[in-house]
Amino acid sequence: MTILITGAGSGIGQGLAHRLSRPYQTLFLGDLHSDSLNLTQAQCSSLGAVVHTRCIDVRDRAEMAEWISESARSRLEMVFVCAGLTGGLPPSHGHPSVMEREEHARAIFETNLTGALNTLFPAIEQMRQQKPDKNGHRGRICVMSSVASFVSYPGTPSYSASKAAIDRFVVASAPSLEKQGISLTSVCCGFVKTPMVRANRFPMPGLVSTEEAVRRILRGTLRGQRRIMFPFWLGLGARLTDLLPPRLAERYYCRQPSAQPGGMPDY
Ligand SMILES: NC(=O)c1ccc[n+]([C@@H]2O[C@H](COP(=O)([O-])OP(=O)(O)OC[C@H]3O[C@@H](n4cnc5c(N)ncnc54)[C@H](OP(=O)(O)O)[C@@H]3O)[C@@H](O)[C@H]2O)c1
Repeated sequence: MTILITGAGSGIGQGLAHRLSRPYQTLFLGDLHSDSLNLTQAQCSSLGAVVHTRCIDVRDRAEMAEWISESARSRLEMVFVCAGLTGGLPPSHGHPSVMEREEHARAIFETNLTGALNTLFPAIEQMRQQKPDKNGHRGRICVMSSVASFVSYPGTPSYSASKAAIDRFVVASAPSLEKQGISLTSVCCGFVKTPMVRANRFPMPGLVSTEEAVRRILRGTLRGQRRIMFPFWLGLGARLTDLLPPRLAERYYCRQPSAQPGGMPDY
């Protein structure tokens, strides 16, 4: 049985790969860069897993389809869609107003949304061809969204929008796929201590360790939850704030350090 993980060279993807490593477990691990991927491979192999790595860009639809089909030569049990890109407003350099650069916004959509679809569709296709197990399961797919998906956040317009789109797609597709034995889970988590947030220059309320995030993600995925949300209070607060009229919500959002130009890494 095989588990496939994108973004496995870092952070949550790497943490999941470690946690799922055991003797004879086959792992297909993908990421953009070989250095980080090789490190994950060494750590997982030392725990007895059979590891296949591939430097792959999730934005490449044909290559993703080919890689996922190769991984499904033995039963494709679980897929974790962890590759992702973040970023916010560029530094203002004294200009009165700034907005996200087009190149930045497009890269975020192409990775977080199109890249996730490039993983999801071939994985679903492979799982459909697999026989259901004794519990009727053909496979499980878990996709990283974010608590940011709940808010129209002025500091991260394309990140929030890309995560909202993938969360909606996953949760809305889940009922029909469940009837076919495939469970879909979306993860709307707050801040997780990974390289992605290392450069953030603002307080991160509710920050959890990668180990804690991995524990919650695995538990929810194995339970077949439609959406995993943590910390609960942060998710609930985000949802309630976004119920306010946009101009009222903006008054709060625009005061936050994370909404300031240059507050987050610029792509
Ligand atoms: N950390 C958080 O607070 C947090 C919160 C909510 C949701 N999430 C989401 O959780 C997922 C994992 O995040 P993380 O914190 O583990 O981030 P991370 O440590 O930056 O890991 C993300 C990985 O994705 C890879 N990647 C980026 N673009 C790619 C592409 N086009 N093709 C293939 N791989 C690509 C990155 O490669 P390189 O580094 O080599 O470029 C990196 O190894 C992301 O989708 C993120 O948006 C994170």
